[in-house]
Amino acid sequence: MKQSDYLIIGSGIAGLSLAIKAAQNSSVVLITKRTLDDCNTAKAQGGIACVSDEKDSFESHIKDTLTAGAGLCNENMVEKMVKEAPQRVKELLDWGVQFSKDEKTSSGYALGLEAAHSNRRIFHSGDMTGKEIERALIEKVRSNKDIEIFEERSAIDLIVNEEGKCVGVFVLDNAVNKVEVFAAKIIVLACGGAGKTYLYTTNPDISTGDAIAMAYRAGADIANMEFVQFHPTCLYNKVEKSFLISEAIRGESGILRLQNGEPFMKKYHPLKELASRDIISRAIDKELKNSGDEFIYLDITHKNSDFLINRFPGIYAKCKEYGIDITKDMIPVVPAAHFLCGGIKIDENGRATIKNLYAIGECACSGIHGANRLASNSLLEGLVYAHRVFEDVQSHCGQDPQSNSLSDIMGQACNDALKPFLENRNSVSQNKSDYFMKDWKAIRHLSWDYLGITRTNEGLSIALKKIEAIKREIDDNFTQTDLSVDALELRNIAAIAQLIAQSAISRKESRGAHYNADYPNILAQAQDTVIRKR
Ligand code: SIN
Repeated sequence: MKQSDYLIIGSGIAGLSLAIKAAQNSSVVLITKRTLDDCNTAKAQGGIACVSDEKDSFESHIKDTLTAGAGLCNENMVEKMVKEAPQRVKELLDWGVQFSKDEKTSSGYALGLEAAHSNRRIFHSGDMTGKEIERALIEKVRSNKDIEIFEERSAIDLIVNEEGKCVGVFVLDNAVNKVEVFAAKIIVLACGGAGKTYLYTTNPDISTGDAIAMAYRAGADIANMEFVQFHPTCLYNKVEKSFLISEAIRGESGILRLQNGEPFMKKYHPLKELASRDIISRAIDKELKNSGDEFIYLDITHKNSDFLINRFPGIYAKCKEYGIDITKDMIPVVPAAHFLCGGIKIDENGRATIKNLYAIGECACSGIHGANRLASNSLLEGLVYAHRVFEDVQSHCGQDPQSNSLSDIMGQACNDALKPFLENRNSVSQNKSDYFMKDWKAIRHLSWDYLGITRTNEGLSIALKKIEAIKREIDDNFTQTDLSVDALELRNIAAIAQLIAQSAISRKESRGAHYNADYPNILAQAQDTVIRKR
């Protein structure tokens, strides 16, 4: 057993920034499923929204966030986040993050524009912002002796004692398939999103909703799972299935065109290519269904080629690998699952509804994004809530004595109940059996076909029935078969798909990222969808 003050699970911007702060006066253990840089943050192209230009204002950023959120944002927290953004960005700069500069601007930084933002306010590092942030934060955590890092560790389940406190986590050591116990005073889930629940996603392979599925199984409230945001422009390519083509390309005047070259966004919204993601993704979905085509084009060839190569070096290089020169050729794109606005319900300090348990970043539902997230607000949310958790723990838990043993922390009853679990789970094998692959594919297809951009009542109930049947089988087998990362991820995406279907069924309207063709209108009363395991 490993013991610490903080146990942080996940190594994106939220987990790493919290680890840096927490280690000032606490022992910190940080675990991550693969390597530290294998996370959604590292793939972020856009950047961090933060008002800094003299022509911009906090009011404008708040208004844009609330408009995207379609009536479901926590307005108080949106205001706090927007006003806190300059401090959090400054911290990143102090930690060595390099953002692209432009001495001609009032801020000195080259601020990007993205869809549904009224002003240029995105701090970015070319189109590889997440990679740069991870570089700097990883350097800091690796050089801090008070942060103990465990890579290749997959969280299995939360350990909740008889007083209802989260006291630790069962963790699989991927390399040897052995179960370990990590106990801590404060458990923070920062494991990112769940894009792999869908057949097509911009997310990396690690995004299997592990935190949300674990928190749900442990009895935490899970909110707004129907709000899955689809990014309009993922590269259409048979090999490179999840490469994002940043919204910043549309911010720099990129035009969406049908395969016959015709632009079509003016039919759908006066802001055309700068309308919010849900509107653009639905427009593309409709055009693809009408034409029977498999992709549309994003065209930025009218811009100066030096500008494009300099502003979008990552996209330029990746497209070049596949014979597409973005300075001359249009880019074939399709929408794909990108970001989950719902997740583990947290309060204004990042606390989940289980004692001692916090959630931050994409796995949490803070109410900042409401029914639809504004571009480049997610890295900011991760930073802001990491800071809130740090402050909350400082003010409430700083004086708690460190417990000495597993029994002290967990309570004897809980400890006894765990023994057989540990003993039975120590020798395992890992292989992607036919059975495993069949269920993995089935869930991702069902999610794409029925829980996608446009939903219907019939599709949702078909999906729920089938997903429940698959999930039952997976859960029954889970207690009998060997553990492996694949088995854990399959179990988790099944839980996530079920939560999305249940939440989508309970929402009898279309709002933000959730569109049900049988309820195309928005209701006057905006309500969260909250699910708790019975
Ligand atoms: C993008 O670069 O288009 C993604 C930005 C985001 O998801 O916020």
